Amino acid sequence: MKPVTLLFAIIGLTAGSSFALDIELPAETAAYRPSDMPGYQLVQNNCMTCHSAQYVLSQPPSSPRSYWVATVKKMKKPFAAPIPDEEMPAIVDYLVKNYGNEKPVASVDSSKK
Ligand code: HEC
Repeated sequence: MKPVTLLFAIIGLTAGSSFALDIELPAETAAYRPSDMPGYQLVQNNCMTCHSAQYVLSQPPSSPRSYWVATVKKMKKPFAAPIPDEEMPAIVDYLVKNYGNEKPVASVDSSKK
């Protein structure tokens, strides 16, 4: 069981009790990093249907553009993600600049190195 799944299981178990829990949501780490780049909106639309951003977050930051091209292609085939071909370059651009080895551009999050 993944830690996130376990956390939700615990929340589920304690939901019926009388005390209020101050829970820090895991969603923050599993969401895509906000950006002005067009790809940010596209990953929201295309990459959240099957899994959270966790898979992307756990990729090596040294991953080059070719790796992200291959990854997005793999989501499409064999994994059958309905990603329009014309949106793929913007998605890859966002991914490699936020999670790969290229410098981020116009990132809203200034905490990103
Ligand atoms: C149709 C469902 C689906 C969609 C949509 C989808 N993925 Fe995936 N993704 C998968 C599956 C299935 C795996 C493999 C999970 C496993 O190995 O446990 C995966 C794994 C990954 C991984 C882990 C590395 C790897 O190569 O397995 C990354 C990174 C990833 N996806 C990124 C993306 C991105 C970026 C998008 C949007 C462009 C996306 N995914 C959209 C199904 C999908």
